Amino acid sequence: MSFIDQHISDLHIEEKLKSLVYIDNPKEESVQWGMNYMFFAPSKRVRPLLTLESNLCFAAPDDDSYILAAATELIHTYSLIHDDLPCMDDAPLRRGVATLHSFRSEAYALLVGDALLTAGLGMLGRYSKSDRLARLLRLYHDKAGYEGMIYGQQLDMDGETRRLSLEETKLMEINKTSRLLQLSLVSGAINGGASEEYINIMDKLGESMGLIFQIRDDILDETATAAELGKPTGSDEENNKSSVTAIIGVDKAQAMIEDLSAECFELTDKLPGNREFFRAFVKYLAERNK
Ligand code: IPE
Ligand code: IPE
Ligand code: MG
Ligand code: MG
Ligand code: MG
Repeated sequence: MSFIDQHISDLHIEEKLKSLVYIDNPKEESVQWGMNYMFFAPSKRVRPLLTLESNLCFAAPDDDSYILAAATELIHTYSLIHDDLPCMDDAPLRRGVATLHSFRSEAYALLVGDALLTAGLGMLGRYSKSDRLARLLRLYHDKAGYEGMIYGQQLDMDGETRRLSLEETKLMEINKTSRLLQLSLVSGAINGGASEEYINIMDKLGESMGLIFQIRDDILDETATAAELGKPTGSDEENNKSSVTAIIGVDKAQAMIEDLSAECFELTDKLPGNREFFRAFVKYLAERNK
């Protein structure tokens, strides 16, 4: 079993997501069917894992930590469905299965994405520490919304018709990818009762880890196979995307990942606990092949 799969198994993440998110007996033509289909297709579950591991730095995970993990994974899954639509990246494969629009309709896939987003917000209605809820809602809005992930997706689409500079490309990648990793880490820290100082460290760590994640993703788009990734490869070049690898090439992009990893290790060394996991996780991100 891989390093992250072992942690996901030890923390019972898949079972907990099933009990919180799975919708029983949906009709095959319903939106609920599509929600189950893409949410439970094979995926790495990186974001739920980060919420739980961040929480663990400060306190033992509780029911609320799984609710936050589920909410973020619901929002992430919506973003993937919309990212794959013909009007965006036009991808036929995601999480090893055919994309919804490719065998139903574009409208159906759009609605399944909308439903996963609202289900993510609805999940937060089950969060029990009511004194922290307003802050968490703002955090979800800020990281996933128009100044966060959606802004990154807008820059990504701009980058198809206009060559972005390296700085603009990093801004795009931080927004489209780092923001949800920051959301995962910071929400786990807030739930664990972390001080503002540690919440700030988690936020910085999420930004650098997200850049590593996305630059490695861009490298894999060029070097891996669709069977390994469960999604199409070569699609960035096909869509004329601006990416770090398109600007500086694969070797320099991997060197940038090494520099970012060193930045991450400085931050993980400051954590009050669970440092070994976070060091190993940064290494996994820098070297992952799928
Ligand atoms: C894919 O995210 C989208 C990016 C930000 C690159 P993941 O690679 O975490 O996808 P899943 O959740 O494992 O399918
Ligand atoms: C997707 O970035 C980021 C979000 C869904 C927010 P990409 O378009 O590079 O991700 P993949 O390669 O399709 O997974
Ligand atoms: Mg995209
Ligand atoms: Mg895409
Ligand atoms: Mg990609």
